[in-house]
Amino acid sequence: MAKHPLLKEVQDNILLEKYSKEFGTPLYIYYGYQIKENLQKINSALQSYFDQYQIYYAVKSNSNPNLLSFMHNYLPSMGADCSSPGELFAANKAGIPMESCVYTGNYESKKDLQSAYDSGCEINLDDSTSFQRLKKIGVPNYISFRLNPGIGKGRFSQIITGGKEAKFGIPKEKIIPIYESAKKDGVKLFGLQCHSGSAILDEDYFVKNTQLILNTARRIENKIEQNLSKISIGSGFGIPYSDDEDALDLNNVFCKISQVFEDFYGRDKSDWPILCIEPGRSIIGNTCILLAKVTGIKESYKNFIGLDAGMETFMRPALYSAEHRIYKLGTKHKIVDLPVDITGRICENTDRLAVNISFPRVVEGDLIAIMDAGAYGYAMSNQYNTRPRSAEILVNGDEYHLIRSRETIEDIFQNCSI
Ligand code: LLP
Repeated sequence: MAKHPLLKEVQDNILLEKYSKEFGTPLYIYYGYQIKENLQKINSALQSYFDQYQIYYAVKSNSNPNLLSFMHNYLPSMGADCSSPGELFAANKAGIPMESCVYTGNYESKKDLQSAYDSGCEINLDDSTSFQRLKKIGVPNYISFRLNPGIGKGRFSQIITGGKEAKFGIPKEKIIPIYESAKKDGVKLFGLQCHSGSAILDEDYFVKNTQLILNTARRIENKIEQNLSKISIGSGFGIPYSDDEDALDLNNVFCKISQVFEDFYGRDKSDWPILCIEPGRSIIGNTCILLAKVTGIKESYKNFIGLDAGMETFMRPALYSAEHRIYKLGTKHKIVDLPVDITGRICENTDRLAVNISFPRVVEGDLIAIMDAGAYGYAMSNQYNTRPRSAEILVNGDEYHLIRSRETIEDIFQNCSI
């Protein structure tokens, strides 16, 4: 059980008030020290148990190039996992070399595959038909395929990406012939990837998932008579979203994963394939406060606190019923027992940031902090109801700067000539 690492920023609210005056609200505020701490924890846990590993930051969780380059400057060995030409563009803009990137798409168009191929990044394919499309463009020296191990796990059913209902990956029963035919077509080196769910806090899941991947890897290796050079266990590394959840102990997780590697490949680590991971949430999730302002308070059949941030600004609660810690600035306020819903200004009844929570009394103009907004926050924001998207700032020590300016209404219509 732990308090949020950014709680001090909310309690000592002078700076947050200053940012709101300078940049307006809603505002995504990222803290550099927390990004560094997250990267350091992941990297040192991997370093303790693996000789050869590669971290590919999952750009889909947050693609701001300023954040990517901040991460890459701190940990130059960090690559990027990209799922679209736009994410490749962001990684490239941030100065991450394309050789340290992997493209994992799904149902990729020829154009998508062409961008990935031309960029020089590694390609991880979601299906045999993807390989048929890629072949017409070119046959890379190295390729990996995404496995659907038949099961998956996730904090919400919507973010489970393995198992019978998942649209991702190649069923374990069908994957071997795909490697055989890719080898015939001239691919020289192979990897195997699997990402079967997200936001998981259960250590044992990662052990089981690795076992399933290595079982399939062994069957592939026997059949193609060649060792796989890389194994990507995807991601899914969760973060606490409430005070009563504990953070994952990454040292334990990678220690246990290394034991699975030892069982399969023996004690000599130089015989192990390179372990790859694609973390997004665990790097950027808890580094960000979404700052919003109370715009209206209503006592209806329910009590509502309306903010200038809604489902268009931050979609996770409306989409998954995700719960985030939400604080009134300065905290130490008496909690009102009456349950409230926190909503935005969108004309849609699913527009909620919280449902039936106890909250301190607020007045119009009060500032509100929504925690853990760094992953899949700005990245999934949109312009519904023709609301321009937020600004983003990065705080690094005593310095802070705008890393994306607020969109304007004119920006929204810049492609509509009339
Ligand atoms: N690798 C692949 C192939 C993925 O599909 C994903 C996430 C990741 C890595 C990064 O996973 P993470 O480290 O963030 O668990 N919008 C949802 C999450 C969807 C995740 C999709 N794939 C949310 O807000 O929770």
